[in-house]
Amino acid sequence: MKSLADVMARHSVVVCAGSGGVGKTTTAAAIAVHGAQQGRRTCVLTIDPARRLADALGLSMLGNEESAVELGGGASLHALMLDQKGAWDQLVERYAPSAEVRERIFHNRFYQHLSGSFAGSQEYMAVEQLAVLHSSGRYDLIVVDTPPTQHALDFLDAPARIADFLDRRVMRWFVKPYFSAGWATLRIVNRTAGTLLRRLEEATGVSALVDISDFFTSMSGLFDGFGERVKGVQNLLRSPDTAFVLVTTPEEQVLTEAEYFCAKVRELSISLRAVVFNRVHREAVAQLRSFDEAWLRKLVTKSVRGAERAERLVQNFLRYEVEARGDQLRIESFRAQLTARTAVATVPNFEEDLHDLEGLRRMLPHLLAA
Ligand SMILES: Nc1ncnc2c1ncn2[C@@H]1O[C@H](COP(=O)(O)OP(=O)(O)OP(=O)(O)O)[C@@H](O)[C@H]1O
Ligand SMILES: [Mg+2]
Repeated sequence: MKSLADVMARHSVVVCAGSGGVGKTTTAAAIAVHGAQQGRRTCVLTIDPARRLADALGLSMLGNEESAVELGGGASLHALMLDQKGAWDQLVERYAPSAEVRERIFHNRFYQHLSGSFAGSQEYMAVEQLAVLHSSGRYDLIVVDTPPTQHALDFLDAPARIADFLDRRVMRWFVKPYFSAGWATLRIVNRTAGTLLRRLEEATGVSALVDISDFFTSMSGLFDGFGERVKGVQNLLRSPDTAFVLVTTPEEQVLTEAEYFCAKVRELSISLRAVVFNRVHREAVAQLRSFDEAWLRKLVTKSVRGAERAERLVQNFLRYEVEARGDQLRIESFRAQLTARTAVATVPNFEEDLHDLEGLRRMLPHLLAA
């Protein structure tokens, strides 16, 4: 079976996906450190890292500029923190036909809402940033962290969803004259438009028609190439140079979602190259040649003062063992559905958060082990 190290060596883009809070950002950062230490010009595109990790990566300021991370030994690592609002503004700067249009868009309330909190806009921007980094040719390896969505799949869906939404055919419905009539009339006039409006309402929660209409009027032209760009990026995500790494914890609910993710990526013809089981509890007795409860109780009672305290410790240990056994069983059954081509890594649950370079280096041997 291959290791994550093999997978990394063969790909130039590594995307870490998974459910919320499972360790995507930490894994992406650790993978990037390894890539840089292997002598590859590496960039990690990270999203909302914990404060201390951001500091460790030299990302004290939010911005869409890459900053160099000091690793020593000539390793070249850059880190970039996705600033969603900033990335949208950059996009407008890049494509607005004139300064006047640009300002008009920036001041539009609907735009402000879209760039700040539109469902999927963070995922879209991550992908857009990846495309920019990739086409710069400055990196041998780009590691992409994905946004803290509840569902791992949102990352794959969002670009297409947003492109679809910003499609010119959709925008045609938003030209000014229609709006003087208001929602209700518009719905009756045209069922298609009605559906689109509902979608828009659901997606954004904005119902200020004037703003929306004005936004699309100023934007027309700006998003001409949108569909094309999304296609390019979707191709990059499916290219043989790109490896998807699924990060998951061994909890039942998280694994159920991970299973769904695996099925879905297959459906989308994306190949899952590796699975990282993170925060796994290790069974201690598995490492002991013989174990029985009475022996443990005797041992603990001998070295701990107070029978009650000793018993609490023993019970605590036994509970941990049960948890560890459960992790093991769930991981085994999950692995049964993976093909031999998918690398698997198991990372223990450390007593402390992994929030600095030292923490990432502690994680690495487990990530890379065959
Ligand atoms: N193996 C581990 N042992 C102990 N702590 C860990 C481990 N892996 C990650 N952590 C900690 O768990 C927390 C969540 O990790 P991380 O931010 O990487 O998750 P995430 O999947 O990116 O979350 P989000 O979905 O919110 O972006 C962090 O504080 C991190 O330091
Ligand atoms: Mg994260």
